[in-house]
Amino acid sequence: MSPGGDVRVAVLLSGRGSNFLALHQAMSRGEVPARIVVVVTDKPKAAGAAKAEDLGIPAVAVSRRGLTREQHEERILEALRRHRAEWVCLAGYMRLLSPLFVAAFPQRILNIHPSLLPAFPGLDAQRQAWDHGTSVSGCTVHLVDEGLDSGPIVVQRPVPVTADDDPDSLAARILTEEHQAYPEALKRLLTTSWEVEGRRLKFFEERA
Ligand code: GAR
Repeated sequence: MSPGGDVRVAVLLSGRGSNFLALHQAMSRGEVPARIVVVVTDKPKAAGAAKAEDLGIPAVAVSRRGLTREQHEERILEALRRHRAEWVCLAGYMRLLSPLFVAAFPQRILNIHPSLLPAFPGLDAQRQAWDHGTSVSGCTVHLVDEGLDSGPIVVQRPVPVTADDDPDSLAARILTEEHQAYPEALKRLLTTSWEVEGRRLKFFEERA
């Protein structure tokens, strides 16, 4: 933890950054004992990185161009070390992390995914759910392991799929829940005792 007691969080994103903003706002309201010390993007033009700069949060762009996966990740890890990040929140970061990256932050990387995992991992999860004809979808915040959207689940929020939905309307309603679920999950992990047992994340009592 940093001297102020707030946990130092790095956010990785590839796009518009609404989940980054939701995390930042919840932290600013004092609801999550953490602060975002750096935003890292693999897409130099990501709107989320511009939003970070507007808020005075350092934004680091590490383009994948001309780099191997290892070199790319090493540069990101350098930025995280430079900003002394303790936790990493993936917020619309559209790349699978290597086992080496995951091992650099053991059980300290979170991801948000727009489906009720283990259903519909991977890209375009909202469309996958709609195409499949499910009557319920939702979002999942999970710890990141070496697999694709496969780590232990921290928080899930269901969202009904209605007859007049299309993939975009469903995605919009899921996104509203994402903005609640992500701060809730991080807060829970930072303020309660927990352990991972097999695939399950077990919470104990609130910390004093
Ligand atoms: C969110 O819906 C998030 O769940 C999804 O990307 C969107 C990012 O939006 N992530 C994934 O699909 C990861 N597999 P945002 O940039 O506005 O936070």
